[in-house]
Amino acid sequence: MENKIAVITGSTSGIGEDIAIKFASIGYKVVVVGRNKEKGNRIVDTIKEKGEEAIFLKADVSQSDECENLFKTVLETYGTVDILVNNAGIMRNLPIVDMKETDWDKVLDINLKSYFLCCREAIKIMKEKGYGRIINISSRGWLGGTAQSNYAASKGGIVSLTRSLALETARMGITVNCVAPGMIDTPLHRQSTEEEVSFRMDSQPMGKVGTPRQVTNIVEYFADEENWFTTGQVLYVCGGMSVLASLSS
Ligand SMILES: NC(=O)c1ccc[n+]([C@@H]2O[C@H](COP(=O)([O-])OP(=O)(O)OC[C@H]3O[C@@H](n4cnc5c(N)ncnc54)[C@H](O)[C@@H]3O)[C@@H](O)[C@H]2O)c1
Repeated sequence: MENKIAVITGSTSGIGEDIAIKFASIGYKVVVVGRNKEKGNRIVDTIKEKGEEAIFLKADVSQSDECENLFKTVLETYGTVDILVNNAGIMRNLPIVDMKETDWDKVLDINLKSYFLCCREAIKIMKEKGYGRIINISSRGWLGGTAQSNYAASKGGIVSLTRSLALETARMGITVNCVAPGMIDTPLHRQSTEEEVSFRMDSQPMGKVGTPRQVTNIVEYFADEENWFTTGQVLYVCGGMSVLASLSS
């Protein structure tokens, strides 16, 4: 892992924060990316206190100029990018008839467009060096969910983006894979109403939510240099919920 540079979007809380902390602990140099400087610096301090390496770079990854600046700064700081984890995401669950155009656009911009923008910048660098690992965080919700048409569409788009980029980069030494979590205990999950959670619990075979570390462990697998023959895949981390497909949101 030594000297490998990992850029993790939306890593100022939840799953992204856990990936940043675990990656730093196994020797990656971590770039924590988010919009909140205070939260980002807190995570970097936690990592550095253990003698590990991380920096915080502020960026709204749904904006192309901010993505370009982000990767430019990473290049200036570390000279390369080895791993990109696209993880930034939001939810705005609403029945379609109540969904405003802005609710659709915001979710698609952050959850899908930012993945395209960051992949584009990262692949420019990875292609040159003939090496890269891209891991996109989708969701089990891409299979479909009530009042989640914007979220499900964005997460399904991530699956298609991953599969297409896996083919496009297959001869460049780059792998592109996708993790599709189910209910994971994070600030985003805690936004759901009790009613929504109990509805989803009804179709949760294990009857409990997962921890961020369950997702991190799979991201770590896809990021590993040794795992070069796995690309274009979607791996569910959802306690078996995907087996029941799209019964509920
Ligand atoms: N928690 C779950 O149950 C669950 C389930 C399936 C998928 N996911 C996905 O996992 C990912 C992480 O979510 P989480 O549960 O840790 O939630 P979270 O809210 O804790 O983390 C999301 C992070 O993305 C950041 N972010 C949002 N918009 C951004 C932007 N424009 N630019 C930069 N950063 C931005 C937020 O600030 C936050 O740090 C998301 O893509 C989410 O859709 C989560």
